Amino acid sequence: MTDLTPLLAFRWSPRSFDPGAELSRTEAATLLEAARWAPSIDNRQPWRFALGHRDDDTFKRILVNLLPADQRWAGRASMLLLAAYARTGHPFAAYDLGQAVAHLTVQATALGLHVRQLTDIDHAGLTADLDLPPELRPYVVVAVGQLGDPLSLPADLVADETALRHRRPLAELMLSCADAGQ
Ligand SMILES: Cc1cc2nc3c(=O)[nH]c(=O)nc-3n(C[C@H](O)[C@H](O)[C@H](O)COP(=O)(O)O)c2cc1C
Repeated sequence: MTDLTPLLAFRWSPRSFDPGAELSRTEAATLLEAARWAPSIDNRQPWRFALGHRDDDTFKRILVNLLPADQRWAGRASMLLLAAYARTGHPFAAYDLGQAVAHLTVQATALGLHVRQLTDIDHAGLTADLDLPPELRPYVVVAVGQLGDPLSLPADLVADETALRHRRPLAELMLSCADAGQ
């Protein structure tokens, strides 16, 4: 981890967003710009976004389409972004969208913000509540905000929030025996 750029080393996915922190329009625009400049197959740019700032109408429409358990913490985020992709028939649109969200996440870290992504979402509910055209597939909700106090979370979430993060060792990921620096 020590050799990673700090933009990656300091990234993690909290639930303990600061419920008083607001995201400026400039910060939101910068996050979307990072997503916009992601690479995609044939430069198709299949990603589409609906952005809600806390307590505005779009935010509420996104929030109600999360699991009730997730609404408890996601409602504290400064921004909820619904990320969708255009179903144009090419099979890698979701992959492209994931790259766009990854870029957004790195940019968020650069701005001192944190991101937690959610795929446990009500797709039909989001399509209806955000009036999405049928060619769009809602795919992931991106919660963005500043880090708050983990102890202010509901008690059952505190242990997860403060637990050590783990990853598989690199040797487990490598399919060949080539030296990967371990
Ligand atoms: C595509 C994707 C979907 C996710 N969906 C959820 C989700 O529905 N609910 C949730 O609490 N976390 C969700 N997460 C967060 C992951 O659980 C988290 O990234 C993972 O545990 C690794 O933790 P880290 O991001 O802090 O390294 C999702 C993350 C990704 C990338």
